[in-house]
Amino acid sequence: MPKITFIDHQGNKKIIDIHPGGSLMEAADGEGVPGILADCGGAMACATCHVYVDDNWYGKLPKITDDEQGMIDSHSIKPNEKSRLSCQIEVTEELDGLIVTTPEKQVDF
Ligand code: FES
Repeated sequence: MPKITFIDHQGNKKIIDIHPGGSLMEAADGEGVPGILADCGGAMACATCHVYVDDNWYGKLPKITDDEQGMIDSHSIKPNEKSRLSCQIEVTEELDGLIVTTPEKQVDF
């Protein structure tokens, strides 16, 4: 079962074992990972599941789609070149060791 590390914006780590098959967002939500709101439930309509993927992992993930990139560019708070929507990352065995950081905030109000 893949172990995935979530780091919050203050550097606090939470490592969780995730069953493959669902999305990273669903797993984080189920484990109470702070900093992921996922307001749309994974429909790629809110961008409140935004995470920053670790430098060593970004290139190992399935390529980002134009739609996901568009949502990040238009709706995420302080996106960078390692931004992904966690609802669009399917958890597989190959993601064992993945590290992602949650942003300081997901909505700007
Ligand atoms: Fe809304 Fe990911 S949960 S875009």
